[in-house]
Amino acid sequence: MKIITSITDMQQTALSLKRAGKRIAFVPTMGFLHEGHASLLREGRKRGDCLLLSIFVNPIQFGPGEDLDRYPRNLEGDCAIARECGVDFVFTPTAAEMYSTGFQTSIRVKDLARPLCGSSRPGHFDGVATVVAKLFNICQPDVALFGKKDFQQLAIIRRMTTDLSLPVEIVGMPIVREADGLAMSSRNAYLSPEQRQSALCLSRAIHLVRERHAAGERSAARLLEAARGLILAEPAATIDYLELRDADTLETVPTASDTTLMALAVKIGTTRLIDNTVLGDET
Ligand code: PAJ
Repeated sequence: MKIITSITDMQQTALSLKRAGKRIAFVPTMGFLHEGHASLLREGRKRGDCLLLSIFVNPIQFGPGEDLDRYPRNLEGDCAIARECGVDFVFTPTAAEMYSTGFQTSIRVKDLARPLCGSSRPGHFDGVATVVAKLFNICQPDVALFGKKDFQQLAIIRRMTTDLSLPVEIVGMPIVREADGLAMSSRNAYLSPEQRQSALCLSRAIHLVRERHAAGERSAARLLEAARGLILAEPAATIDYLELRDADTLETVPTASDTTLMALAVKIGTTRLIDNTVLGDET
């Protein structure tokens, strides 16, 4: 496994792999890898001749007062996981390498980036779309893998890829959870043991809504009320958003169906966690 920090080196390497007829699979991450990331890497291993991982804590997708400075990092641990998953190249540039003086370009996916995380984190998805487009140009993937844990992010990347005719196949992968239901996230490292328990209210709310929906409840208001009650019973939890929306357009829906997305962001203490489900999908 080779570690590359320069954009030119990575791009030249990727272009010569392509010229040699290799299919490049790519998994972009911000590091502090866990089993969720590993599931993307394992699938990527199967889908490409060559597997690229990027580790880059992207400053332009963090807002003022967010956790950019304390975002967890562990390059050595990440490399051990990457090796285990069969990664061939790790691209890990510095912020100065990615955003040279004078950088001023931004990609905005309009409607899909407005609700949910887009409304509580202004500018976040512009930062995500811009860095992913740049990483695609550097790493030249044929296929790129993203987790459904960040459902809105995946929708935005798909839209951007289609709209800009980027020659990349986008693959969405299921959410990987801890045994007790908590969706795996690098940010779970911020939680104290008590907060870790409180954080179960997200997946429990999802479970409750899925159950009520499966039992025939279709009123979005009633489904959301049940979820809200469950979360607010947890003193450490404050709701950032809790919504039912169409899984394709991300528009709000008055009645739930199998293609309805339930998405929520909840703060446990100061740690903001997200989770989601599409009601008709298998978990
Ligand atoms: P990061 O949060 O590190 O996540 C990298 C990828 O791993 C994303 O596609 C995310 O959806 C996926 N992932 C994270 N937790 C997961 C879980 N529990 N199950 C399945 N997949 C999971 O998302 C980002 O980084 C950044 O925004 C990035 C796309 C790299 C752009 O900077």
